[in-house]
Amino acid sequence: MIDLSDHRRRFLAFTEDFRDVPDAAPLRLKVEHTFKVVGQAETIVASLKDDPDEQAWSGDADACRAALLASLYHDCGRFPQFRFYRTFLDAKSVNHALLSLRTMRDGDFLRDESVRVRHLAQCAVLLHNRYELSPLLSPVARFVTDVVRDSDKLDIFRIMVGYLENALPERDAVLLHVQDDPGRWTPKVMRCVLEGRVARYADLRFVNDFRLLLGTWMRELRFAATRRTLAESGLMEEVLAGLPDDPELRQAREKLHVMLEECRHGRGGKR
Ligand SMILES: [Fe+2]
Repeated sequence: MIDLSDHRRRFLAFTEDFRDVPDAAPLRLKVEHTFKVVGQAETIVASLKDDPDEQAWSGDADACRAALLASLYHDCGRFPQFRFYRTFLDAKSVNHALLSLRTMRDGDFLRDESVRVRHLAQCAVLLHNRYELSPLLSPVARFVTDVVRDSDKLDIFRIMVGYLENALPERDAVLLHVQDDPGRWTPKVMRCVLEGRVARYADLRFVNDFRLLLGTWMRELRFAATRRTLAESGLMEEVLAGLPDDPELRQAREKLHVMLEECRHGRGGKR
C-alpha cells in the first residue's frame, strides 16, 4: 500500500490558503473531486496485478507512486485559477494543468520524492487535460498519465450527473455555461459518437451535448477497473436516460448503450 498521508496533509494545507476566496463553493468541490480521483487511482493501481494488459506496471513502484501523487495534485492549479480569474474555463483564463505544474513547483510539493517519481508525476499533471496524448510519450509516462486521466474522467462523470439533474448555484460553473434546452443537441457532437471520436469541449452548446460528450469518454478509459467502476456506478445509465427521445438521436443512443455493456465486462477501452 502506497502511503500518501504526508502529501494529503500538504494538499489540504495548501487549500487552506484559499479559504477566504469569495464564493468559494466551486473550490470546495475541487477538494472533494481531488480525493475521489485519488481513490479511483488507488483502485486502478490495486487492480493492475489482476489485469493481463497492465500486469507489468504493478511491479514499477515509482510509476504507481507517481500516479497517485499526480492524482492528488493534478488540479491544484484550479485554486489560483479561480482566485484570479473567477472561472474554471481555461479558454477564458489559463491552462489549469500548466498552472497546477507551476503551483506544485512553487510549493515544492514533491520535495521528498526521487527524481524519477517527481518527473513522472509532473509530466502526468501537465498532460492530464490534453485532448490526446502524443504517440512519442514513453510507455511509463503514458501509464502514469492515463491513471490520472481515467480517474479524473470517472469523477467528472459523477459531478456532471449530479449537475445535469439539479439546478444548484454552482451548476453554471460546472457545466461550463452551456444552454439548458432539453430538446436540443449539436449535430457535430452527435457525429463524434457515431464515428467513435471524443467530442471537444469547444463544440458543446447544450446540456445534451454534455451527455453525448460523457458517452464518448467511455472509449477513452484505458483501465478495465475504471470501465467496470463506471458501469457499476449506474452513472452512465443516468446520463443516457436524459437524452431526448428523438429518432435522429436513436443510433447514437444505441451505440452508447452497446459501449456501456462492453464497459461492464471490462472491455471496449482504447487498447
Ligand atoms: Fe484538471
